[in-house]
Amino acid sequence: MMKATFNCTTLGMMLVMTFMLLLLSFAPSGSSAYEIDTPELNSVIWFLNQTGSSVSRDPNVFCTTIPETIRCVYNISGRYHVSAMILYISSYVSSGPAVTSNPTLFFPRLTDMVITFASNTHHSTNVSTLDLIQPSSFPVINIISLSNDGTIYQVPPNFGASMQLTTLTIINAANLKSATVSSIFATRVNILNQFYLNVFLFGSTLNTKIASLSVEMGASQDLILTLDSSSLPSLKYLSLTKYDTGSLTVNCFSSTINTILLSGPTTLNLRTPNFDQIFDVYLNGIGATLTPTEISSYPNLKTYRVLNAASYNIPFTSFQSNTKLQDLLILDSGITSLQNMPQLPKSLKSLILMRNNIQGQLPLDIFEKIPLEPNTFTFDITLNQNLSGSISKNFCNYFTYIANTSITSVPDCFHCYNDYQVGFSSSVPLPPNFSCDIRFNALVFPIINGSTIVEGSNFGWVAPQNYTMLVPNSKFLYHKAPAVGTYQKAGFVIGTKYYKEVNLIESTIYFVLNPFSFDASSNRLTISFNFINNQAIHTVVLMSRTVPQMYYPCQLNVFNDSTIECTLDQLKSGTYEVTVSNEFNQMKMDTPSITATNQVTYPLVTSAQLSESSLQLTLYGGFGVNQLNSPTVTLNNTLACQVTSKNQTTIICTISSSSSSSQLPPGQASVQVQVDGFNTNLNNAISIAFPPSIDLKQKCIEDTLNCYGHGQCSDQGICLCDQNYYDNCRYFSMY
Ligand SMILES: *[C@@H]1O[C@H](CO)[C@@H](O)[C@H](O)[C@H]1NC(C)=O
Ligand SMILES: *[C@@H]1O[C@H](CO)[C@@H](O)[C@H](O)[C@H]1NC(C)=O
Ligand SMILES: *[C@@H]1O[C@H](CO)[C@@H](O)[C@H](O)[C@H]1NC(C)=O
Ligand SMILES: *[C@@H]1O[C@H](CO)[C@@H](O)[C@H](O)[C@H]1NC(C)=O
Ligand SMILES: *[C@@H]1O[C@H](CO)[C@@H](O)[C@H](O)[C@H]1NC(C)=O
Ligand SMILES: *[C@@H]1O[C@H](CO)[C@@H](O)[C@H](O)[C@H]1NC(C)=O
Ligand SMILES: *[C@@H]1O[C@H](CO)[C@@H](O)[C@H](O)[C@H]1NC(C)=O
Ligand SMILES: *[C@@H]1O[C@H](CO)[C@@H](O)[C@H](O)[C@H]1NC(C)=O
Ligand SMILES: *[C@@H]1O[C@H](CO)[C@@H](O)[C@H](O)[C@H]1NC(C)=O
Ligand SMILES: *[C@@H]1O[C@H](CO)[C@@H](O)[C@H](O)[C@H]1NC(C)=O
Ligand SMILES: *[C@@H]1O[C@H](CO)[C@@H](O)[C@H](O)[C@H]1NC(C)=O
Repeated sequence: MMKATFNCTTLGMMLVMTFMLLLLSFAPSGSSAYEIDTPELNSVIWFLNQTGSSVSRDPNVFCTTIPETIRCVYNISGRYHVSAMILYISSYVSSGPAVTSNPTLFFPRLTDMVITFASNTHHSTNVSTLDLIQPSSFPVINIISLSNDGTIYQVPPNFGASMQLTTLTIINAANLKSATVSSIFATRVNILNQFYLNVFLFGSTLNTKIASLSVEMGASQDLILTLDSSSLPSLKYLSLTKYDTGSLTVNCFSSTINTILLSGPTTLNLRTPNFDQIFDVYLNGIGATLTPTEISSYPNLKTYRVLNAASYNIPFTSFQSNTKLQDLLILDSGITSLQNMPQLPKSLKSLILMRNNIQGQLPLDIFEKIPLEPNTFTFDITLNQNLSGSISKNFCNYFTYIANTSITSVPDCFHCYNDYQVGFSSSVPLPPNFSCDIRFNALVFPIINGSTIVEGSNFGWVAPQNYTMLVPNSKFLYHKAPAVGTYQKAGFVIGTKYYKEVNLIESTIYFVLNPFSFDASSNRLTISFNFINNQAIHTVVLMSRTVPQMYYPCQLNVFNDSTIECTLDQLKSGTYEVTVSNEFNQMKMDTPSITATNQVTYPLVTSAQLSESSLQLTLYGGFGVNQLNSPTVTLNNTLACQVTSKNQTTIICTISSSSSSSQLPPGQASVQVQVDGFNTNLNNAISIAFPPSIDLKQKCIEDTLNCYGHGQCSDQGICLCDQNYYDNCRYFSMY
């Protein structure tokens, strides 16, 4: 935090410097280059006198000093204002007795006041720095940070209430013994390193401003505090640190907190059951406790970190409700076993168990359900000297740190980069004569839209040169501007160590905005591209939007890097979805409505032939060259015939077996054929024979030896017997 501020300040300073150098070249020369109105300049000087600062009182010096202590901003009216005072007062430098002990200060543009006293700095008066900061004097003050300021005995009630204060930070104010935070009006309130603060109250004033509160306090006695639901209704971030022997217990009824940091013997008892607000928990040191302790109570938890908790027992019986958990860190906390670690959630992005005391074998099954993509998963179990076992191949795709464990077996990827361990760590020695086998998953990888993803194994964890590692060891991204061409070889220094070549082919397809024009007289479609690689094989297929699932191939006539001209066979009017494809990529786009004027030449049935069994029908004629659609054939518009083969001249189909020949109605039948959405009909195409009645009579004659000589076989194969004969006329009976 401090570091970031410093960097920003440094950058800001450079910008201000540049600005000021520009101004200086226009400002009149002499001592009045930096003119600050007298009341404001006197306020600055009084403040420097008061704090004993050694900073120059001359604006031509303090406005240009590096490193910056007082920041001056140009005012359009030719004046400067002070916008920041960043003072470090290493020791009190007296400037004599105060001109006035109760001045009227005026800092019209001051937004940042950051004052650090070296410890034990003498102060000329007992006027608290906080008492000097009145709303009328500091109309735009935004950030106040005071370190080691011995003048602060209390934070004045309602401090900041009429200001634009976002941050109030008080660090190690030795005389500040008590604080009531609900009467401090800043968005972020930080009362830090307050070893002597021993009374601390959340207070009961309604304070909607505080969103973030950090308190670090001493006190040897146990304290029990209540944070009620109404006093800090905007509080999101709560950080409590307890030094000294006494414990701090907070019964918390807030329902807005989402981030909790507890350090030292601090217990936060959440008493409002909307635990789904909580997404970040950090517990540091022995006694830092959040209740409820079971992690499954916090379904939206993203980060859970435990540090320095002696002999920590894994308190998680299940992660099933923690579907958002990303970072789980238990560091230096004396975990001895992973056996109770439940199945980890898929959302997890890091599992850090460094410097514990884990014994036994690493249970690989806790990782089984962690997905491999998208994958930036970090697993760190370094410095668990007694943890043994082996790790499986999928750890190549994680950032895996296992140095200083007793793990003895690792997959090859670890050995490949054993000599400089970046992105992983391992203490497993290199096997003798090891050679790294880097593999690619394909012979050729496509470049689409300016990039290609190369997949394989043993690529290492980092890619510091002309590509980006997406998944460690198995997937990297390489950018290349589209260029027409055949297969090309690209060489890569894999994992900064091995040189390998891969085959790439440009496969980008990029239509212009309105890419289609159609010439109905020739059935020719012209498609325009911003880019297409005409050195790779492409196909064009149209799908009818009016008769879905009807596809029409377009035969390429002209193909260059901006145009395809292709011809369709016969086509109906309508709209079509055009798909342009190559081996690795395809792009689809709808045409505007196409009006076709073509002569319909197929389907045409010239003759039909029914097989002897009457199950197979062969149609001769013209059926087009398009093989993308299945034709349909029916008899009499009703009876389906399943097409088994079709070419330009012949269709063969099978009449469905449920209607076997004996059931086919006899007589002439018409045949209907639909090909590519076009229909034709041939009347009296086939003739199904009437039942062969003669056969039944003949069978009767054969079976009954012509009714045993005592009757006649009918056409229906029944013996019509002479009088008194029965049973196919075999027997005679008088009765
Ligand atoms: C600051 O101290 C100097 C030196 O004693 C004194 O001359 C000057 O009047 C003081 N200025 C203010 C504004 O207090
Ligand atoms: C310049 O100073 C005048 C008078 O103090 C003030 O009203 C005005 O806002 C200032 N302008 C800028 C750009 O700071
Ligand atoms: C500030 O107050 C302390 C304690 O009351 C006193 O000892 C000290 O002399 C005071 N300092 C000044 C400069 O008034
Ligand atoms: C590892 O195990 C050995 C033998 O059980 C034990 O003596 C040693 O203290 C253990 N080391 C750690 C760091 O747990
Ligand atoms: C890991 O162990 C090696 C020797 O076994 C030791 O030199 C190294 O310092 C250890 N690493 C750490 C971070 O303790
Ligand atoms: C390693 O290679 C050397 C030389 O090629 C060979 O003599 C030796 O037997 C090999 N060692 C193993 C363990 O394969
Ligand atoms: C390439 O870009 C086009 C147009 O921006 C987009 O529709 C297509 O999905 C992209 N293809 C790939 C593989 O990213
Ligand atoms: C990537 O960089 C390496 C090393 O500079 C170079 O040898 C290689 O040709 C580059 N590969 C591509 C595809 O640009
Ligand atoms: C591509 O072909 C079209 C149609 O034949 C033609 O108009 C265009 O000039 C050609 N473009 C190039 C770059 O050859
Ligand atoms: C069409 O198929 C029939 C039957 O399979 C076959 O006899 C004929 O040679 C084929 N014709 C063509 C042009 O392939
Ligand atoms: C087709 O219709 C004709 C005339 O209605 C009929 O005689 C014939 O049995 C029908 N054939 C089939 C296979 O449905």
